[in-house]
Amino acid sequence: MPVYCCSTFLLFSTLLILLIILLFSPWNHNHNINFLASSYTISPASFGHKTRQGSFWSSVFDANSEDHVAAKVKVRIKKSLANIEGELARSRATIHQAIRGRNYSSYRSENFLPRGSVYRSPYAFHQSHIEMLKRFKVWTYREGEHPLVHKGPLKDIYAIEGQFIAEMEIGMNPLTAPHPDEAHAFFIPISVANIVNYVYMPVTNYSREQLQRLVEDYIGVIANKYPYWNRSNGADHFMVSCHDWAPDISDANPRLFKNFIRVLCNANTSEGFHPGRDVSLPEVYGPAETLAIPDKGLVPKMRPILAFFAGGVHGYIREMLFEHWKDKDNDIRVHQYLPEGQNYTQLMAQSKFCLCPSGYEVASARVVEAIYAGCVPVIISDHYFLPFSDVLNWNEFSVSIPVDKIPDMKEILLGISETRYVRMQKRVRRLQRHFRLNRPARPFDVIHMVLHSVWLRRLNLRLPT
Ligand SMILES: *[C@@H]1O[C@H](CO)[C@@H](O)[C@H](O)[C@H]1NC(C)=O
Ligand SMILES: *[C@@H]1O[C@H](CO)[C@@H](O)[C@H](O)[C@H]1NC(C)=O
Ligand SMILES: *[C@@H]1O[C@H](CO)[C@@H](O)[C@H](O)[C@H]1NC(C)=O
Ligand SMILES: *[C@@H]1O[C@H](CO)[C@@H](O)[C@H](O)[C@H]1NC(C)=O
Ligand SMILES: *[C@@H]1O[C@H](CO)[C@@H](O)[C@H](O)[C@H]1NC(C)=O
Repeated sequence: MPVYCCSTFLLFSTLLILLIILLFSPWNHNHNINFLASSYTISPASFGHKTRQGSFWSSVFDANSEDHVAAKVKVRIKKSLANIEGELARSRATIHQAIRGRNYSSYRSENFLPRGSVYRSPYAFHQSHIEMLKRFKVWTYREGEHPLVHKGPLKDIYAIEGQFIAEMEIGMNPLTAPHPDEAHAFFIPISVANIVNYVYMPVTNYSREQLQRLVEDYIGVIANKYPYWNRSNGADHFMVSCHDWAPDISDANPRLFKNFIRVLCNANTSEGFHPGRDVSLPEVYGPAETLAIPDKGLVPKMRPILAFFAGGVHGYIREMLFEHWKDKDNDIRVHQYLPEGQNYTQLMAQSKFCLCPSGYEVASARVVEAIYAGCVPVIISDHYFLPFSDVLNWNEFSVSIPVDKIPDMKEILLGISETRYVRMQKRVRRLQRHFRLNRPARPFDVIHMVLHSVWLRRLNLRLPT
């Protein structure tokens, strides 16, 4: 049986390797560290949220001379970075120990133990998640105005983008940094979906120029105002977007975005998605309430349909799927429009396999829908780096069919033994928690998995102190 695998996975063959290899080397650019003596000035009036920000910098404003201020800020920033790097070093050590000892250590009682072959390195992941909850702090920049920044869609196909922004904006998430000096990572809360929605509507111009300019301007503002972007050359900064256009942001200025972590639904490795730096984001069809309790799905015996798909003819992969299977086979139910009186959710719950062909872009909300319905996802795609692949072993709970094998799909699926199917389906159900969208977020859910992906990349980065 063909399983989903591609050479990019080799990069991530184990979490251990991830933790050891330093993927980035932005600390070659120390010259920026001297910014304090020259251009770095802070004006309280320029902050959007004075109440939160005022106190952070009060020591700065109390000082008398500008030089004195600069020197004090420099010392403070240096000290805080040393603290942060020290914490990260301790987390790395604890994770290594967990891998060696095949156990974990925690500051609280753990009621979920990620174990089994679905995890690439269960002990590393478990300990890393514990370390993240214990230490990881994310600062969300306050600059910019609604609706392009600080706000995103909360429902439909781009929902995950707005849900993530909202979760971090509310400030209730325990990983929220109280002060940017304490942050291990920096979130740029721009919504590409909202930019396209407000700046481009009605969409008559597909030029990415305005989008690129808006994001570059934002980075310019925060890089001028704070020391954090320059300190890492953007390597501890990230954005989250589910919009198809999001990857194009970096095209106009690859140098600026060289290290920037892009968390993207459109994780197409042949369009610049870089698995070591970027994060693949699952497309979750929102809103959160409708997804809060995933349908546990029926047991395999109660699933009379071999495979199911219903959806539009978006893109060449679906064209091919329809050409071979549309309304042709009673076992492989592929429909462009759902026949009258049939229920999409119920059909997924009654199918053994749910087909998840890419649409116009690689990601499909069907992957998460299938997992929710307890249906084994069948990924039909090209160059798709699947979500959370640095932690999850997708070929233990999904089937991957290369595009040119679409005609052989029935044979391939029938070739999967009952025993193997039952095992895969059980794993799908066990993994539902990693794709569940909770607000507020909960450990091991989809928002924490996204944060964990960023945490992992931060663990791989060492900034000079
Ligand atoms: C694993 O660690 C937990 C928590 O530290 C501890 O309670 C448990 O006894 C350990 N198990 C083994 C097999 O060492
Ligand atoms: C599209 O927008 C870009 C930048 O805003 C502009 O330079 C270009 O002329 C526009 N093209 C059309 C066809 O309107
Ligand atoms: C960061 O670097 C840019 C470009 O070199 C520079 O314009 C900016 O002033 C620097 N930021 C700070 C806070 O010094
Ligand atoms: C489809 O079935 C689900 C689950 O049984 C139910 O919640 C939903 O309302 C149904 N949808 C329609 C359009 O009938
Ligand atoms: C991924 O990118 C390649 C190269 O641009 C493109 O040909 C392909 O269509 C993309 N995949 C999907 C599913 O859009």
